[in-house]
Amino acid sequence: MGRLIIVSNRVPSPRERLQPAGGLTVGLKDALRGGSSLWFGWSGNQSEFAGDPVTGMDEVDGVTYATIDLTARQHEGFYQNFSNGILWPLFHYRVGLMSYSRRDWQTYLEVNAMFARSLRALLQPDDVIWVHDYHLFPLGQALRDLGVAGRIGFFLHIPVPPWSLVRSMPGARLLLEDMQAYDLIGVQTEEDADNLNHAFRQNGLAERARAFPIGIDPHEFREQAEAGVRRDEAERLRASLRGTALILGVDRLDYSKGLPERFRGYEAFMARYPEHRGRVSFLQVAPVSRGDVEEYRQLRRQLDELTGRINGAYAEFDWTPIRYLTRPVARDILAGFYRMADVALITPLRDGMNLVAKEYVAAQDAADPGVLVLSHFAGAAPEMDEAVLVNPYDADEIADALHQALTMGLEERQRRWTRLDEDVRRTTAGCWARDFLQALDAAPPVGAPLAAA
Ligand code: ADP
Ligand code: G6P
Repeated sequence: MGRLIIVSNRVPSPRERLQPAGGLTVGLKDALRGGSSLWFGWSGNQSEFAGDPVTGMDEVDGVTYATIDLTARQHEGFYQNFSNGILWPLFHYRVGLMSYSRRDWQTYLEVNAMFARSLRALLQPDDVIWVHDYHLFPLGQALRDLGVAGRIGFFLHIPVPPWSLVRSMPGARLLLEDMQAYDLIGVQTEEDADNLNHAFRQNGLAERARAFPIGIDPHEFREQAEAGVRRDEAERLRASLRGTALILGVDRLDYSKGLPERFRGYEAFMARYPEHRGRVSFLQVAPVSRGDVEEYRQLRRQLDELTGRINGAYAEFDWTPIRYLTRPVARDILAGFYRMADVALITPLRDGMNLVAKEYVAAQDAADPGVLVLSHFAGAAPEMDEAVLVNPYDADEIADALHQALTMGLEERQRRWTRLDEDVRRTTAGCWARDFLQALDAAPPVGAPLAAA
């Protein structure tokens, strides 16, 4: 097999400790260990030198990272408006938040064509190309248009709603047609695969979607968590808790994560279970994400207000109910916090997978594991039915789940955690990538072998 070429809009900075939060880069990085490969995408920068030439080239641990810039206009039309303002809400079942414009659609296609041209120049004949996420739906077709005939696979990290919803976006059919250029399309859950295949069928197109639930590297994460609890930051957190139980939430500041609903659930918990007041602390780490998009700014204002209201109502002069951070926290520190947390409260309204749930499980101490409270609507929920599953729209249910989790006996915690941990260990990021790439290799090819560039 030739080189593996990963293409995604967001590419991690391989040398920086503080990485931007996001499941795509975390999952893929864990999956890439050991192979010789190229990871191609956006540099994260805006400049006049869009697309060509490649502005960043770096090699770390056998992976070459090649990145291109976007112009300010492309950044706005392609990334902010079309990817984050149209596709993201639509695919998270939030049609009401979608603000469609034809001009952004044109910029989206233009940037995909530019990605294809820049990447084409770097390709070798037997390369296997794996494209990731909604920013790049049309990339496969754009590469085929440039004569790339080898294997091209696609993985969608976010959920797929039913066609009746997807079709509310003008041009949805064109996206599905472009996706026919991929030999195989991976999605996170069976429900997503059914919805996408049904959409293809409704449009007279071939069904190419299959479920490949993404995982993490549990072994590495456990080691990070074990080291993390011995760090200074964990020590400071522990001292500040003064024996109170820790409920932890970790998410990008995104409306798909159900943060206001979670805060209201915690508020209901304070109201309905006064015996826990002063005895628990809820730490929510939610680094600002996509801060230039209006809906994200609104969400931030809403959370500022809710935190103020709940703390104002329930705080004591020596106790604060909610600790709320919008700064990113380095992964190794976060891993220690997961291990210390008695409860992880993870309540997305919709989520492709939700890797935080898997990280929390991997981080636990087998002798005294914490409890995972998880939304039914996380892609991880079908695999993680030993979690305490909740409907994130029901504040009282969140309150009851928190009470249940905080009063659960050791035996039940261990029983639930052992099952969850078995699953997290079985479905790792490495297995996910291997399974997808094997299936890609075996899929009936759309194109013929690539001629020399
Ligand atoms: P999404 O991809 O929508 O952001 P996931 O839960 O699948 O959601 O992945 C998020 C990834 O980003 C996880 O690996 C998590 O550890 C990391 N992450 C999330 N929130 C933070 C945070 N506050 N600080 C640092 N890393 C974070
Ligand atoms: C999710 C998406 C990724 C994206 C990440 C962070 O995980 O599936 O494609 O990279 O969020 O979002 P950002 O807009 O900062 O890349």
